[in-house]
Amino acid sequence: RTLRIGLIPGDGIGKEVIPAGRRILEALPTSLGLKFEFINLQAGWETFEKQGVALPDETVSILKSDCDGALFGAVSSPTTAVKGYSSPIVALRKKLDLYANVRPVKTVVSAPKPIDMVIVRENTEDLYVKEEKTYDTPDGKVAEAIKRISQRASSRIATIAGEIALRRQNIRAAGAPSIHKGPLVTITHKSNVLSQTDGLFRSTAREALAAARFGDVAVEEQIVDSMVYKLFRQPEAYDVIVAPNLYGDILSDGAAALVGSLGLVPSANVGEGFAIGEPCHGSAPDIQGHGIANPIATLRSAALMLEFLNEEAAAAKIYAAVDANLEEGRLLSPDLGGTAKTEEVVQDILRRL
Ligand code: NAI
Ligand code: MG
Repeated sequence: RTLRIGLIPGDGIGKEVIPAGRRILEALPTSLGLKFEFINLQAGWETFEKQGVALPDETVSILKSDCDGALFGAVSSPTTAVKGYSSPIVALRKKLDLYANVRPVKTVVSAPKPIDMVIVRENTEDLYVKEEKTYDTPDGKVAEAIKRISQRASSRIATIAGEIALRRQNIRAAGAPSIHKGPLVTITHKSNVLSQTDGLFRSTAREALAAARFGDVAVEEQIVDSMVYKLFRQPEAYDVIVAPNLYGDILSDGAAALVGSLGLVPSANVGEGFAIGEPCHGSAPDIQGHGIANPIATLRSAALMLEFLNEEAAAAKIYAAVDANLEEGRLLSPDLGGTAKTEEVVQDILRRL
Protein backbone atom coordinates (compact mmCIF):
# COMPACT_ATOMS: atom_id res chain seq x y z
CA ARG A 1 0.00 0.00 0.00
CA THR A 2 1.26 3.46 -0.86
CA LEU A 3 0.12 6.30 1.37
CA ARG A 4 0.22 9.84 0.07
CA ILE A 5 0.97 12.21 2.94
CA GLY A 6 0.72 15.99 2.82
CA LEU A 7 3.43 17.77 4.81
CA ILE A 8 2.49 21.17 6.22
CA PRO A 9 5.39 22.36 8.39
CA GLY A 10 3.95 25.86 8.97
CA ASP A 11 6.11 28.21 11.04
CA GLY A 12 8.91 28.19 13.62
CA ILE A 13 9.86 24.75 14.94
CA GLY A 14 7.17 23.23 12.71
CA LYS A 15 9.88 23.38 10.05
CA GLU A 16 12.30 21.51 12.34
CA VAL A 17 10.00 18.73 13.52
CA ILE A 18 7.92 17.87 10.42
CA PRO A 19 11.02 16.64 8.52
CA ALA A 20 11.58 14.27 11.48
CA GLY A 21 8.03 12.99 11.01
CA ARG A 22 8.77 12.29 7.37
CA ARG A 23 11.98 10.46 8.22
CA ILE A 24 10.34 8.15 10.73
CA LEU A 25 7.69 7.16 8.20
CA GLU A 26 10.37 6.50 5.58
CA ALA A 27 12.33 4.40 8.07
CA LEU A 28 9.51 1.95 8.83
CA PRO A 29 10.55 -1.63 8.04
CA THR A 30 9.75 -2.65 4.47
CA SER A 31 8.25 -5.89 5.85
CA LEU A 32 5.16 -3.83 6.72
CA GLY A 33 4.48 -3.41 3.00
CA LEU A 34 3.97 0.34 3.36
CA LYS A 35 5.32 2.98 1.02
CA PHE A 36 4.98 6.73 1.29
CA GLU A 37 4.78 9.62 -1.12
CA PHE A 38 5.10 13.09 0.35
CA ILE A 39 3.59 16.31 -0.92
CA ASN A 40 4.87 19.59 0.49
CA LEU A 41 2.09 22.04 1.26
CA GLN A 42 1.92 25.60 2.54
CA ALA A 43 0.00 27.15 5.44
CA GLY A 44 0.65 29.53 8.31
CA TRP A 45 1.83 33.00 9.12
CA GLU A 46 4.74 33.09 6.64
CA THR A 47 2.37 31.87 3.94
CA PHE A 48 -0.02 34.66 4.88
CA GLU A 49 2.75 37.26 4.63
CA LYS A 50 3.76 35.97 1.18
CA GLN A 51 0.39 35.10 -0.35
CA GLY A 52 -2.17 37.05 1.68
CA VAL A 53 -3.89 33.86 2.87
CA ALA A 54 -2.94 31.57 5.75
CA LEU A 55 -4.47 28.53 4.09
CA PRO A 56 -4.15 28.59 0.27
CA ASP A 57 -6.97 26.89 -1.67
CA GLU A 58 -4.33 24.71 -3.29
CA THR A 59 -3.39 23.20 0.07
CA VAL A 60 -7.00 22.27 0.77
CA SER A 61 -7.70 20.88 -2.70
CA ILE A 62 -4.54 18.75 -2.77
CA LEU A 63 -5.31 17.37 0.69
CA LYS A 64 -8.84 16.56 -0.43
CA SER A 65 -8.14 15.01 -3.79
CA ASP A 66 -4.64 13.70 -3.55
CA CYS A 67 -3.73 12.72 0.03
CA ASP A 68 -4.54 9.90 2.42
CA GLY A 69 -3.41 11.90 5.43
CA ALA A 70 -1.17 14.74 6.50
CA LEU A 71 1.25 16.02 9.10
CA PHE A 72 0.79 19.57 10.31
CA GLY A 73 3.57 21.30 12.28
CA ALA A 74 2.55 24.52 13.98
CA VAL A 75 1.63 28.01 12.96
CA SER A 76 2.41 31.34 14.56
CA SER A 77 -0.63 33.47 15.20
CA PRO A 78 -0.54 37.24 15.61
CA THR A 79 -1.45 38.29 19.16
CA THR A 80 -3.85 40.95 17.90
CA ALA A 81 -6.42 40.45 15.13
CA VAL A 82 -4.96 40.91 11.64
CA LYS A 83 -7.40 41.54 8.80
CA GLY A 84 -7.71 38.49 6.55
CA TYR A 85 -5.79 36.16 8.85
CA SER A 86 -7.47 33.22 10.51
CA SER A 87 -6.06 29.99 11.92
CA PRO A 88 -5.40 27.47 9.14
CA ILE A 89 -5.80 24.40 11.34
CA VAL A 90 -9.24 25.55 12.50
CA ALA A 91 -10.20 26.12 8.85
CA LEU A 92 -8.83 22.72 7.83
CA ARG A 93 -10.87 20.96 10.51
CA LYS A 94 -13.99 22.58 9.03
CA LYS A 95 -13.19 22.11 5.35
CA LEU A 96 -12.22 18.47 5.71
CA ASP A 97 -14.88 17.71 8.36
CA LEU A 98 -12.27 16.47 10.81
CA TYR A 99 -14.83 15.89 13.53
CA ALA A 100 -12.62 14.33 16.20
CA ASN A 101 -9.60 15.74 17.96
CA VAL A 102 -7.68 12.91 19.54
CA ARG A 103 -4.97 13.54 22.09
CA PRO A 104 -3.09 10.69 23.75
CA VAL A 105 -1.30 11.65 26.96
CA LYS A 106 1.21 9.12 28.14
CA THR A 107 4.26 8.73 30.35
CA VAL A 108 6.73 5.87 30.22
CA VAL A 109 5.47 2.78 32.02
CA SER A 110 8.27 3.04 34.59
CA ALA A 111 7.33 6.61 35.60
CA PRO A 112 6.66 7.05 39.34
CA LYS A 113 3.02 7.76 38.44
CA PRO A 114 2.45 6.25 35.01
CA ILE A 115 -0.44 7.51 32.92
CA ASP A 116 -1.76 6.43 29.56
CA MET A 117 -4.95 8.05 28.38
CA VAL A 118 -6.54 9.52 25.30
CA ILE A 119 -8.80 12.55 25.29
CA VAL A 120 -11.31 12.43 22.43
CA ARG A 121 -12.77 15.86 21.83
CA GLU A 122 -15.74 16.62 19.58
CA ASN A 123 -14.45 19.13 17.08
CA THR A 124 -17.39 20.67 15.20
CA GLU A 125 -20.03 22.09 17.51
CA ASP A 126 -20.83 23.03 21.13
CA LEU A 127 -19.97 26.66 21.94
CA TYR A 128 -17.48 26.68 19.06
CA VAL A 129 -20.26 27.20 16.51
CA LYS A 130 -19.38 30.82 17.39
CA GLU A 131 -22.95 32.12 17.23
CA GLU A 132 -22.54 35.01 19.62
CA LYS A 133 -24.30 38.29 20.04
CA THR A 134 -24.05 41.31 22.29
CA TYR A 135 -26.89 43.69 23.09
CA ASP A 136 -27.61 46.64 25.36
CA THR A 137 -29.93 46.52 28.33
CA PRO A 138 -30.75 49.18 30.94
CA ASP A 139 -28.17 47.49 33.19
CA GLY A 140 -25.41 47.44 30.57
CA LYS A 141 -24.30 45.08 27.82
CA VAL A 142 -25.20 41.41 27.72
CA ALA A 143 -23.45 38.84 25.55
CA GLU A 144 -24.83 35.43 24.62
CA ALA A 145 -23.45 32.38 22.86
CA ILE A 146 -25.18 29.33 21.43
CA LYS A 147 -24.12 25.93 22.71
CA ARG A 148 -25.24 23.46 20.05
CA ILE A 149 -25.13 19.71 20.63
CA SER A 150 -26.45 17.32 18.01
CA GLN A 151 -27.26 13.65 18.14
CA ARG A 152 -25.24 13.04 14.97
CA ALA A 153 -22.02 14.65 16.24
CA SER A 154 -22.39 13.14 19.73
CA SER A 155 -22.96 9.70 18.29
CA ARG A 156 -20.00 9.73 15.94
CA ILE A 157 -17.60 11.08 18.57
CA ALA A 158 -18.67 8.42 21.08
CA THR A 159 -18.34 5.77 18.38
CA ILE A 160 -14.80 6.76 17.51
CA ALA A 161 -13.96 6.85 21.24
CA GLY A 162 -15.18 3.26 21.50
CA GLU A 163 -13.13 2.26 18.48
CA ILE A 164 -10.03 3.89 19.94
CA ALA A 165 -10.57 2.00 23.21
CA LEU A 166 -10.77 -1.30 21.31
CA ARG A 167 -7.70 -0.52 19.22
CA ARG A 168 -5.67 0.38 22.30
CA GLN A 169 -6.72 -2.95 23.75
CA ASN A 170 -5.44 -4.70 20.59
CA ILE A 171 -2.11 -2.89 20.78
CA ARG A 172 -1.81 -3.95 24.45
CA ALA A 173 -2.73 -7.51 23.58
CA ALA A 174 0.11 -7.47 21.04
CA GLY A 175 2.49 -7.11 23.96
CA ALA A 176 2.89 -3.39 24.57
CA PRO A 177 3.54 -2.74 28.27
CA SER A 178 0.51 -1.08 29.82
CA ILE A 179 -1.05 0.14 33.03
CA HIS A 180 -4.59 -0.79 31.94
CA LYS A 181 -6.50 -4.03 32.35
CA GLY A 182 -9.37 -3.51 29.94
CA PRO A 183 -10.83 -0.90 27.61
CA LEU A 184 -12.72 1.90 29.36
CA VAL A 185 -14.50 4.96 27.98
CA THR A 186 -15.37 7.81 30.35
CA ILE A 187 -18.11 10.14 29.10
CA THR A 188 -17.63 13.67 30.42
CA HIS A 189 -20.45 16.19 30.62
CA LYS A 190 -22.37 18.53 32.90
CA SER A 191 -25.85 17.17 32.38
CA ASN A 192 -26.80 17.74 36.01
CA VAL A 193 -26.95 21.46 35.11
CA LEU A 194 -27.27 21.51 31.30
CA SER A 195 -29.88 18.79 31.11
CA GLN A 196 -30.81 19.36 27.46
CA THR A 197 -27.50 20.02 25.70
CA ASP A 198 -25.15 17.93 27.81
CA GLY A 199 -28.07 15.64 28.52
CA LEU A 200 -28.31 14.88 24.81
CA PHE A 201 -24.55 14.36 24.60
CA ARG A 202 -24.66 11.95 27.52
CA SER A 203 -27.61 9.86 26.40
CA THR A 204 -26.45 9.72 22.78
CA ALA A 205 -22.92 8.71 23.78
CA ARG A 206 -24.32 6.02 26.10
CA GLU A 207 -26.45 4.67 23.30
CA ALA A 208 -23.61 4.63 20.76
CA LEU A 209 -21.35 2.80 23.21
CA ALA A 210 -24.05 0.23 23.94
CA ALA A 211 -23.53 -1.22 20.43
CA ALA A 212 -22.71 -4.92 20.41
CA ARG A 213 -19.19 -4.43 19.06
CA PHE A 214 -18.32 -2.40 22.15
CA GLY A 215 -19.38 -5.27 24.39
CA ASP A 216 -15.89 -5.48 25.96
CA VAL A 217 -15.64 -1.75 26.58
CA ALA A 218 -16.55 -0.58 30.07
CA VAL A 219 -18.40 2.75 30.03
CA GLU A 220 -18.56 5.23 32.88
CA GLU A 221 -19.48 8.88 33.30
CA GLN A 222 -17.83 11.79 35.03
CA ILE A 223 -19.23 15.27 35.57
CA VAL A 224 -16.66 17.61 34.05
CA ASP A 225 -15.67 19.49 37.20
CA SER A 226 -15.03 16.31 39.15
CA MET A 227 -13.30 15.00 36.00
CA VAL A 228 -10.72 17.79 36.35
CA TYR A 229 -10.20 16.90 40.01
CA LYS A 230 -9.75 13.21 39.25
CA LEU A 231 -7.62 13.88 36.20
CA PHE A 232 -5.06 15.53 38.47
CA ARG A 233 -5.48 13.24 41.49
CA GLN A 234 -5.82 9.89 39.77
CA PRO A 235 -4.84 10.20 36.11
CA GLU A 236 -3.84 6.52 35.96
CA ALA A 237 -7.52 5.58 36.30
CA TYR A 238 -8.39 6.76 32.76
CA ASP A 239 -8.14 5.08 29.41
CA VAL A 240 -10.30 6.96 26.87
CA ILE A 241 -12.15 10.14 27.83
CA VAL A 242 -14.78 11.52 25.45
CA ALA A 243 -16.11 15.06 25.77
CA PRO A 244 -17.97 17.81 23.94
CA ASN A 245 -15.81 20.46 22.29
CA LEU A 246 -15.28 23.02 25.09
CA TYR A 247 -14.69 20.56 27.93
CA GLY A 248 -12.49 18.51 25.63
CA ASP A 249 -10.40 21.56 24.74
CA ILE A 250 -9.77 22.33 28.40
CA LEU A 251 -9.27 18.73 29.53
CA SER A 252 -6.83 17.98 26.73
CA ASP A 253 -4.56 20.92 27.54
CA GLY A 254 -4.83 20.12 31.25
CA ALA A 255 -3.96 16.49 30.64
CA ALA A 256 -0.96 17.50 28.53
CA ALA A 257 0.43 19.29 31.60
CA LEU A 258 0.63 15.93 33.40
CA VAL A 259 3.52 14.64 31.30
CA GLY A 260 6.09 17.38 31.73
CA SER A 261 6.59 18.82 28.24
CA LEU A 262 4.48 19.94 25.32
CA GLY A 263 7.23 18.43 23.20
CA LEU A 264 5.90 14.95 24.02
CA VAL A 265 2.20 15.31 23.27
CA PRO A 266 0.74 14.40 19.88
CA SER A 267 -2.72 14.83 18.45
CA ALA A 268 -4.74 13.87 15.43
CA ASN A 269 -7.63 15.57 13.69
CA VAL A 270 -9.75 12.77 12.33
CA GLY A 271 -12.54 12.59 9.75
CA GLU A 272 -14.01 9.83 7.58
CA GLY A 273 -10.99 8.07 6.07
CA PHE A 274 -8.67 11.01 6.65
CA ALA A 275 -6.39 12.08 9.49
CA ILE A 276 -4.00 14.93 10.15
CA GLY A 277 -1.32 14.33 12.76
CA GLU A 278 -0.35 17.48 14.64
CA PRO A 279 1.95 18.00 17.64
CA CYS A 280 0.15 19.86 20.43
CA HIS A 281 2.78 22.51 20.78
CA GLY A 282 2.99 25.79 18.88
CA SER A 283 5.76 27.28 16.77
CA ALA A 284 7.97 27.94 19.85
CA PRO A 285 9.73 31.10 18.62
CA ASP A 286 11.88 31.10 21.79
CA ILE A 287 13.81 28.00 20.67
CA GLN A 288 13.39 28.24 16.90
CA GLY A 289 16.62 27.86 14.93
CA HIS A 290 18.60 26.29 17.79
CA GLY A 291 18.03 22.72 16.66
CA ILE A 292 16.78 21.68 20.09
CA ALA A 293 13.03 21.22 19.54
CA ASN A 294 11.77 17.92 20.88
CA PRO A 295 10.62 15.90 17.85
CA ILE A 296 8.69 13.30 19.87
CA ALA A 297 5.28 15.02 19.74
CA THR A 298 5.55 14.96 15.94
CA LEU A 299 6.82 11.38 15.74
CA ARG A 300 3.92 10.25 17.91
CA SER A 301 1.55 12.32 15.76
CA ALA A 302 2.80 10.49 12.68
CA ALA A 303 2.05 7.19 14.43
CA LEU A 304 -1.37 8.40 15.49
CA MET A 305 -2.15 9.40 11.91
CA LEU A 306 -1.19 5.87 10.83
CA GLU A 307 -3.56 4.38 13.40
CA PHE A 308 -6.48 6.20 11.79
CA LEU A 309 -5.34 5.10 8.34
CA ASN A 310 -5.67 1.52 9.66
CA GLU A 311 -1.93 0.94 9.87
CA GLU A 312 -1.88 -0.15 13.49
CA ALA A 313 1.24 -2.33 13.21
CA ALA A 314 3.29 0.51 11.75
CA ALA A 315 2.03 2.89 14.44
CA ALA A 316 2.94 0.41 17.18
CA LYS A 317 6.54 0.25 15.89
CA ILE A 318 6.94 4.02 16.13
CA TYR A 319 5.41 4.16 19.61
CA ALA A 320 7.73 1.40 20.79
CA ALA A 321 10.84 3.14 19.41
CA VAL A 322 9.87 6.44 21.03
CA ASP A 323 9.05 4.78 24.36
CA ALA A 324 12.38 2.95 24.32
CA ASN A 325 14.22 6.25 23.85
CA LEU A 326 12.33 7.79 26.77
CA GLU A 327 12.65 4.74 29.02
CA GLU A 328 16.40 4.73 28.56
CA GLY A 329 16.50 8.49 29.13
CA ARG A 330 20.03 8.93 27.80
CA LEU A 331 19.32 11.12 24.76
CA LEU A 332 16.73 13.67 25.83
CA SER A 333 16.11 17.17 24.50
CA PRO A 334 16.47 20.18 26.84
CA ASP A 335 12.72 20.45 27.56
CA LEU A 336 13.07 17.05 29.29
CA GLY A 337 16.21 18.07 31.17
CA GLY A 338 18.67 16.62 28.67
CA THR A 339 21.18 18.18 26.31
CA ALA A 340 20.46 16.30 23.06
CA LYS A 341 19.73 18.13 19.84
CA THR A 342 16.67 17.35 17.74
CA GLU A 343 18.90 15.47 15.32
CA GLU A 344 20.39 13.24 18.03
CA VAL A 345 16.96 12.33 19.39
CA VAL A 346 15.73 11.52 15.87
CA GLN A 347 18.82 9.40 15.15
CA ASP A 348 18.37 7.46 18.38
CA ILE A 349 14.71 6.71 17.63
CA LEU A 350 15.42 5.78 14.01
CA ARG A 351 18.09 3.36 15.19
CA ARG A 352 15.61 1.69 17.58
CA LEU A 353 13.03 1.49 14.81
P1 NAI B 1 4.40 26.99 22.19
O1 NAI B 1 3.76 25.65 22.28
O2 NAI B 1 4.94 27.37 20.88
O3 NAI B 1 5.56 27.09 23.28
C1 NAI B 1 5.34 27.03 24.70
C2 NAI B 1 6.65 26.66 25.41
O4 NAI B 1 6.93 25.28 25.20
C3 NAI B 1 7.87 27.41 24.86
O5 NAI B 1 8.75 27.70 25.91
C4 NAI B 1 8.49 26.43 23.90
O6 NAI B 1 9.87 26.60 23.72
C5 NAI B 1 8.17 25.10 24.54
N1 NAI B 1 8.01 24.05 23.51
C6 NAI B 1 6.94 23.89 22.67
N2 NAI B 1 7.15 22.87 21.85
C7 NAI B 1 8.36 22.36 22.14
C8 NAI B 1 9.13 21.29 21.61
N3 NAI B 1 8.70 20.52 20.61
N4 NAI B 1 10.34 21.07 22.15
C9 NAI B 1 10.80 21.81 23.16
N5 NAI B 1 10.13 22.83 23.71
C10 NAI B 1 8.92 23.11 23.20
O7 NAI B 1 3.29 28.04 22.68
P2 NAI B 1 3.39 29.64 22.70
O8 NAI B 1 4.76 30.07 23.04
O9 NAI B 1 2.27 30.06 23.53
O10 NAI B 1 3.04 30.10 21.21
C11 NAI B 1 4.03 30.38 20.21
C12 NAI B 1 3.33 30.54 18.87
O11 NAI B 1 2.73 29.31 18.50
C13 NAI B 1 2.25 31.59 18.89
O12 NAI B 1 2.28 32.29 17.67
C14 NAI B 1 0.97 30.75 18.99
O13 NAI B 1 -0.12 31.41 18.40
C15 NAI B 1 1.34 29.53 18.22
N6 NAI B 1 0.61 28.30 18.61
C16 NAI B 1 0.23 27.47 17.61
C17 NAI B 1 -0.41 26.28 17.89
C18 NAI B 1 -0.75 25.40 16.73
O14 NAI B 1 -0.27 25.60 15.62
N7 NAI B 1 -1.56 24.37 16.93
C19 NAI B 1 -0.70 25.87 19.26
C20 NAI B 1 -0.20 26.78 20.25
C21 NAI B 1 0.42 27.97 19.92
MG1 MG C 1 -6.54 24.08 23.26
